[in-house]
Amino acid sequence: MCGIIGCVGRGDETLDTLVHGLSKLEYRGYDSAGVALSSDHVEICKNSGKIDDLREALSDRTLSGSVGIGHTRWSTHGPPTDANAHPHQDCHGDVAVVHNGIIENYQSLRDELVAAGHTFTSDTDTEVVPHLIEDALEAGSDPEDAVREAISRLEGSYAVAAVVAGCDAVFAARNDSPLVLGLAEDATFLASDVPAFRDFTDQVVYLADGEFARLDADGWTVTDSDGSVVEKDVDTVEWDPEETGKSGYEHYMLKEIHEQPRALRQCLRGRVDELSGTVDIGDLGDLSPTGVQFVACGTSYHAALHGAQLFREAGIPSQAFLASEYATATPPIGDALVVGVTQSGETADTLSALRAARRRGARTLAVTNVVGSTAARECDHALYIRAGPEIGVAATKTFASQLAALNLLALGTSSTGDARQVISALRDLPGHVQEILDESAAQEIAEIYQDADAYFFIGRGYHEPVALEGALKMKEITYKHAEGFAAGELKHGPLALVTENTPVFAIVTGDDERARKTVGNVKEVEARDAPVVAITDGQSDVSRYADHVLELPETHPRAAAVLANIHLQLVSYHTAALLGRNIDKPRNLAKSVTVE
Ligand code: M6R
Repeated sequence: MCGIIGCVGRGDETLDTLVHGLSKLEYRGYDSAGVALSSDHVEICKNSGKIDDLREALSDRTLSGSVGIGHTRWSTHGPPTDANAHPHQDCHGDVAVVHNGIIENYQSLRDELVAAGHTFTSDTDTEVVPHLIEDALEAGSDPEDAVREAISRLEGSYAVAAVVAGCDAVFAARNDSPLVLGLAEDATFLASDVPAFRDFTDQVVYLADGEFARLDADGWTVTDSDGSVVEKDVDTVEWDPEETGKSGYEHYMLKEIHEQPRALRQCLRGRVDELSGTVDIGDLGDLSPTGVQFVACGTSYHAALHGAQLFREAGIPSQAFLASEYATATPPIGDALVVGVTQSGETADTLSALRAARRRGARTLAVTNVVGSTAARECDHALYIRAGPEIGVAATKTFASQLAALNLLALGTSSTGDARQVISALRDLPGHVQEILDESAAQEIAEIYQDADAYFFIGRGYHEPVALEGALKMKEITYKHAEGFAAGELKHGPLALVTENTPVFAIVTGDDERARKTVGNVKEVEARDAPVVAITDGQSDVSRYADHVLELPETHPRAAAVLANIHLQLVSYHTAALLGRNIDKPRNLAKSVTVE
């Protein structure tokens, strides 16, 4: 999705700072980029394509100014053309605006502005904003009031940043789209996400909906929609700037796969007490839900399926919903706790589902990675998964940390008979993940099956969401056909697709009824000549029917689900690498999906 950067106080380095910030936002996905610098006049440079194309365009230009804004655009209104790239300007080129989100009333505003004589040069909803500012300036407002007046006309979701010629300030406002200020000793930054300025500061201020910020040589102020000053907390982000680099790995995805032992340790730190067999998740422990509804999308939905099983196992009715379905057809809530599982905390479908639940009077909880994210702020409670920043579009370490955090949530708010075994399995999890990272035969499997027609993944119980996740990861980064099924469903249709060129990955742990039934499904596949890759702890006899084995240590099935997924992440990663795919930024995808 789109990214915003703004800065004041970087002097001659303003332009470089903006472009650097944009490069740090590339992971969000984008199709065009641009910058604007302001002094006694405003100059812009923008084009469709990548940041390198912008750099090239800038190499022929001299842009001057010590305050500026920049943007990476993910098209929503109008195709990814130079004209549609941000920043957008007014009729005289005195104002420049960048915007994330969707202005729902843009058409009526545009009609009004065109009727008043304004000329538009793009198809975007954003362009109404500089023209509204222009009108307000012409009516005599000072730049700050002009921007405020323009913002007050907007309906929909937006994070907006603007500069005005002759005014050494950056103005910004948000509604339903994230914006954060970065505070350094002699410079102030503004961005849609911290990595954009993390190389300069770890001091941040999260803007809330309806707030307005002014950044200038004197520092920064945040005001509400009436213009009253809002006292904001300054937070310290705990990420090391190095964490947003690749640290020698070829891709962020591989780095993030390898960060999982640390991410899991962070998630569990201070929250489990093995001696007493208890979990401490702070005030959340008092939630005592009598029912739980999970809402989530994509990988987070697979984590939510795991979470719902945990609560059902504890005797608490629970169900996972795709957020995009829940938002438009909210089921009866009763007194259920509604849990939004969202790595970014900004996924529009998940936010809509949580808002629908709140409108119905439900208590809401965000299970998220991003402190200060919209989900965290809007929900009654937040449980942080503490995975650290995830830059690769494919969710990896955040999935593992979501599963761990959901186990903590279930253990901390309900009672299950085997809490001690689960806690001990969670304690062993980081070490077990490390063993798999060190020893997995995933790369070999990827080499053997890189040309397969399709990939199928099967599992039962806790391994069903992992089968779904294995397939999502495979299709997302390799662009190959992949599907995941509850193992028992295979014979109800998908078996027709199975051939000698469609490897089937079967997750089988333990030797209980579930495992034996999955082994039965493996035999059905084997009889149709499909190659079988068993991901197993060796307790059942699945290996007898498998062509390859990816080994798991013996552990609790809940932890085994996390471990099986590590092998599958590696298989997808290596397959995508062999196929030469754009692993960290797969085609057509964005890290943070902020439109419904
Ligand atoms: O930030 P969220 O967890 O809410 O994101 C939800 C999905 O968009 C996300 O998990 C997506 O499916 C990933 N790219 C999968 O790797």
